[in-house]
Amino acid sequence: MRIGILGSGLMGGKLGTIFARAGHDVVFSYSHSKAKLEKLARDAGGQARAGTPAEAAKDADALLLAVHWSRVDDVLKKAGDLSGKVIVSCSLPMNANDTGLVIANTSSGSEELAKKVPKAHVISGFNTVPSEVLFSVFERKGSGTPPSVVYCGDNAKAKKVAAQLITDVGFEPIDAGPLRIARYSEPFTLLVGQLAYEGDRGPAMAYRFEWFEEREA
Ligand SMILES: NC(=O)c1ccc[n+]([C@@H]2O[C@H](COP(=O)([O-])OP(=O)(O)OC[C@H]3O[C@@H](n4cnc5c(N)ncnc54)[C@H](OP(=O)(O)O)[C@@H]3O)[C@@H](O)[C@H]2O)c1
Repeated sequence: MRIGILGSGLMGGKLGTIFARAGHDVVFSYSHSKAKLEKLARDAGGQARAGTPAEAAKDADALLLAVHWSRVDDVLKKAGDLSGKVIVSCSLPMNANDTGLVIANTSSGSEELAKKVPKAHVISGFNTVPSEVLFSVFERKGSGTPPSVVYCGDNAKAKKVAAQLITDVGFEPIDAGPLRIARYSEPFTLLVGQLAYEGDRGPAMAYRFEWFEEREA
């Protein structure tokens, strides 16, 4: 797939690199530094390249939105017309100093994003994962039981694209349902962050959901 990265920091830089190494055609965009985007593209290898948000969006099969909540409007404006595009968003609606969600309970960042780009297909995904685990999950892909990532969205085709990307990184994709479920998965991220950054094991932790079969007595 052709994948445009909107926001090439901790999440976008790493996920874009992994997507390129998994064989996708990646365009890194949105950084203060063009040289940084070019280095990311060189280091990722394959067909990866640096571009503007508009170049990342053009002909993209999927876009990864990975900017701070305060930058969403700006990057969307720079990306241009996103009609029909699949947008996988790992962006969380955090306040300026990243201490809390500014949208929760009755809505979510992903739902508010979908209102901003009503003609695009928004999927909430990857936002429950600390960026520090991404490379190690990719490296151990195919060996052992993969950790899970929940994703949600309202468009079936877009969800297939997101599930493929989640699988390509090395996670088991768990379909949590329609986009409104992001109201529950986005706050869950704060729990993961608490465990990862303030717990004993550090960001190396990744979670896994298990299915338990009901057994007859
Ligand atoms: N980090 C995590 O572990 C994690 C986990 C789950 C979800 N998230 C969410 O994912 C989103 C991205 O997080 P992140 O940690 O990847 O953030 P980040 O490292 O700060 O990356 C944000 C990107 O946006 C760019 N940017 C910011 N302001 C800009 C401006 N004015 N002009 C051009 N580019 C600009 C940054 O440029 P530079 O390259 O110049 O810095 C950077 O490439 C956030 O919503 C966060 O809440 C993060």
